[in-house]
Amino acid sequence: MITTSSRYAPTRRVFDTPAAAAVAAADVVTKLVAERDQPVITFPTGSTMEGLYAELRRRVTEEKLELDQVRGIQLDEYVGVDDETPESFRAWLSDRLLRPAGLDRFLRLPSLAPTPESLGSYEASLAALGGVDLAILGIGGNGHIAFNEPGSPADSRTRVVQLNARTQEANRRYWGDPTAVPSEAVSQGIGTIMEARAILLIATGPAKAGILADAFEGPITTEVPASILRGHPNVTVITDTDAAAKLRG
Ligand code: F6R
Repeated sequence: MITTSSRYAPTRRVFDTPAAAAVAAADVVTKLVAERDQPVITFPTGSTMEGLYAELRRRVTEEKLELDQVRGIQLDEYVGVDDETPESFRAWLSDRLLRPAGLDRFLRLPSLAPTPESLGSYEASLAALGGVDLAILGIGGNGHIAFNEPGSPADSRTRVVQLNARTQEANRRYWGDPTAVPSEAVSQGIGTIMEARAILLIATGPAKAGILADAFEGPITTEVPASILRGHPNVTVITDTDAAAKLRG
């Protein structure tokens, strides 16, 4: 699918530093938590999110921000991992956000041995929660969102995906044994993500500048999965100046 124009213009907010971008992203979460009972929020992993989760932890301890009513949603996970796998996304997120914030209502992906039935019940559980209020996303160097690699269909649902070499390489740093990086993951589909009522994409650092411009100013194409977000009416993109360096508009 390739079109050249956006149906909607995402709101772009550019900050001088990654830390300032993290504060702005934490403000989005804090506002939602203040406004809505039991908000449903999708949480990604990855280095971009370190600042946001650190700021949320700070607000929980220093400013009495309460996240225990939040319904957390897992966005993606490696296939074959369980609670004992320290490199799992779940373990990463538990350390940085779920445990310190007392956020224990968390819908997990069926990652150990996913089946069409277990993936379908994850989607059914999402629907039973009333859908997602806020999907927080990062962006991969190849434009992936969650683990939807280039070529993923715009209407894809939660499923098992193959990780391409570039994504496996990017994740090697998290694995004690770099040859152990799984080749498969479970991921919300692009269609699943697009059903969230609001989407917040965060990108920081110069390495994201090219792909951010491709995603938000290039053609809308499944070859750049993040570009599909321009078909959603309520997307906010928060970046630092380095990541925004190649954006013209
Ligand atoms: C991880 C995820 C990925 C990351 C993306 C950026 O849960 O969904 O799509 O958001 O790979 O990762 P970092 O932030 O490490 O550059």
